[in-house]
Amino acid sequence: MNILRQPKNSISVIGSSNYDVLLKVNEIPVAGETVLATGMETGFGGKGANQAITIAKLGGDVKFFTCIGGDSFGKLYMNNFMENKINLEFIEIIENEHNGIAIINVDKDGRNDIVVYPGANSHLTTDMIIKNEKDIFSSKLIITQLEIPLSSVELIAEKKSNNNVFILNPSPLDKNVNYDPILKNVDILVPNEIELAQLSGIKIDGLKGLDEATDKLLEKGVKTVVVTLGSKGAFVRNEDVQEHLNVRDVKVVDTEGAGDIFMGSFACSYLKSRDIIKSVKFANEVATISVTRYGTQKSIPNDDELNKINKMFN
Ligand code: RIB
Repeated sequence: MNILRQPKNSISVIGSSNYDVLLKVNEIPVAGETVLATGMETGFGGKGANQAITIAKLGGDVKFFTCIGGDSFGKLYMNNFMENKINLEFIEIIENEHNGIAIINVDKDGRNDIVVYPGANSHLTTDMIIKNEKDIFSSKLIITQLEIPLSSVELIAEKKSNNNVFILNPSPLDKNVNYDPILKNVDILVPNEIELAQLSGIKIDGLKGLDEATDKLLEKGVKTVVVTLGSKGAFVRNEDVQEHLNVRDVKVVDTEGAGDIFMGSFACSYLKSRDIIKSVKFANEVATISVTRYGTQKSIPNDDELNKINKMFN
């Protein structure tokens, strides 16, 4: 699939690779409760890998910097990278370390909670960033999330130049961390509404609060904020634009990974068009298909579906 074929050195994704164990439950259990799952699935996930593989499936030229475990999950993951045509050059195998694992509960309405054990992901240190500096910063877009050590994200934010567009998906957030030093260097921030509320200190209720909260982030130095709002679509805010973009109504079964699939498709489209609104509309379409099926990478639309979406936008 090469619907968005791109020149070399287009996109660097630096991030996590997790083996996902998904349990289908009627209700998400509360603390102290035991519930029986109604089904289970396993698959490949991790925010970084989900984003990188979405880009690869769209035909983007992606370099993926990640660490996987020396255990059996890590070995399975290596095959997954090969199947998805991810260049293995920037992938480190950490011997005597578990691969990152995510335990995901999905309830009958498609809501989820996720617990991640970072394992090998915690080895994606500043040393690895420095070692790969030339390859990372020669890319036009640099994408990361917060499932790797914070010091590495800080270093990327510090080192990025005007030749790079730095896109941060601030997930998962730690309430005790001050992210302002990173935010001042972010070109495009892609939070969901919960992350937006935490970063801005402004309560979000439906679409209420989005203006004020995104204003706060612009004040902190972020150039553009793209808020993902699930079934309510997305909200874009920068110096020139303030726009809410709706999504089609679909039967949602599992929203897990949709934010990552949005990120990957947004980045691909943005690299080609440099048009934020068009790229959000494109990413909304791709992510909308993904929520109609279970899993993360498993739910990325297939080639035919991606081709159809691409035709709508070109
Ligand atoms: O965003 C979904 C992802 O979050 C899952 O694939 C899981 O591994 C966690 O990283």
